[in-house]
Amino acid sequence: MNREGTRWIKSGDGCYLLDEKGRRLLDGLAGLWCVNVGYNCAAIVEAVHAQMEELPYYPSFFNTTTEPPVLLAEWLAKHAPARLNKVIYSNSGSESNETALKIIRAFWKLRGKSGKRKILSREFAYHGVTLAATSLTGLPNCSDPFDLPLEDFIRVPTPYAWNDRVAASEGYGAEIIAKTAEIIDREGAETIAAMFVEPIQGAGGVLVPPPGYLKALRELCRERDILFVADEVITAFGRLGVWFASEREGLDPDLLNVAKGLTSGYLPLGATLVSDEIADVILPAGYFAHGYTYTGHPVCAAAGLANVGVIEELGLVDRVRNDAGPYFQQKLAELAEHPAVGEVRGDNLIGAAELVPRGGRPSASRGDRDGLQPGMALGLKAADLIREEDAIVRGIRDLIALAPPLIITRAEIDELFDSVRRGLDRLWK
Ligand SMILES: Cc1ncc(COP(=O)(O)O)c(C=O)c1O
Repeated sequence: MNREGTRWIKSGDGCYLLDEKGRRLLDGLAGLWCVNVGYNCAAIVEAVHAQMEELPYYPSFFNTTTEPPVLLAEWLAKHAPARLNKVIYSNSGSESNETALKIIRAFWKLRGKSGKRKILSREFAYHGVTLAATSLTGLPNCSDPFDLPLEDFIRVPTPYAWNDRVAASEGYGAEIIAKTAEIIDREGAETIAAMFVEPIQGAGGVLVPPPGYLKALRELCRERDILFVADEVITAFGRLGVWFASEREGLDPDLLNVAKGLTSGYLPLGATLVSDEIADVILPAGYFAHGYTYTGHPVCAAAGLANVGVIEELGLVDRVRNDAGPYFQQKLAELAEHPAVGEVRGDNLIGAAELVPRGGRPSASRGDRDGLQPGMALGLKAADLIREEDAIVRGIRDLIALAPPLIITRAEIDELFDSVRRGLDRLWK
């Protein structure tokens, strides 16, 4: 930022932002995959204001708590996949993963299996930036500068068909599962505590798993007595046209992490949802020495309650599934025809386009990739050009990622893809 200059965002309304020069930008990334209800949502602002006046803060320590986190926990337990009936709060997605890791260690220790300490996660995974969350993250640019991962964090492959130059078929997914099983057997299932999984890998490049893969991964973990943790920091709260991707995919996770869309980003809040089976081991053991000063912050929880209330009232989850999501995917599929695009992939209101350089595309085959060179960073270049065309998308390696607010209309989706096309036209010139 220091070297290249810093952009300011001054205000926001609906799906739009105004920068310091008064330029109007359509936010195709919902902030950072999180402003699900859009900007300037009066119901959240009012709920936060009212809670600030009534009680701005009190900790969830000393057998004491406040009302909003209890009501929000009740809402979460009611809407989350069946076995997840306990909620423990934090302040971010990273911390929700951190909390899950401590619960997992305590669980196996209490079960007399302290040897189960290793944690599996996948290449291209993104789970946050604390020491342990970075250790879960499968992106070398996040972990290498810090000599991470820590000991006992084991990486397994992920299905990334474009990268592997294969079709995203069921057979390909099965191959990745077989490789994962090999690693588990090599390490010894009796040494493995849990596996962390994003149902769709977001920051790693919007990696949409092939059919059958997630279910098979879940079954593999169950067979080997490895806890299955769904990191739904991006996928929960409607982006995929469901409250929780785990529900749609039948993942039946042992733990589930949320943040971002829990408050639509209006205030920081994360939560780890815990299964009855785990809670039944942890709770009778007595004092669970884990809590942040801001655990269950009443104002953040009030924002969360108002946020899920708005999503319900506007019927946003159904709207994404039945209208905005399919329309967005249609427009994304049309973008695949653009000469700068090698592949598109997505699910409801999340999507990505892998870009190819001019001259690298003699045909519409997978050979398109051959023009790519390391360090081209086509995604960043494209995102800058698209911003000049009045829309924000995220550039990652050689791809662009999109995840607009759930309130986006068809006309705004058209506008978003028009900006993307204009930016890609310029990239291709
Ligand atoms: C799947 C996933 N997990 C965890 C995180 C980390 O969340 P935070 O940035 O709130 O710590 C992110 C952030 O992008 C994420 O996408």
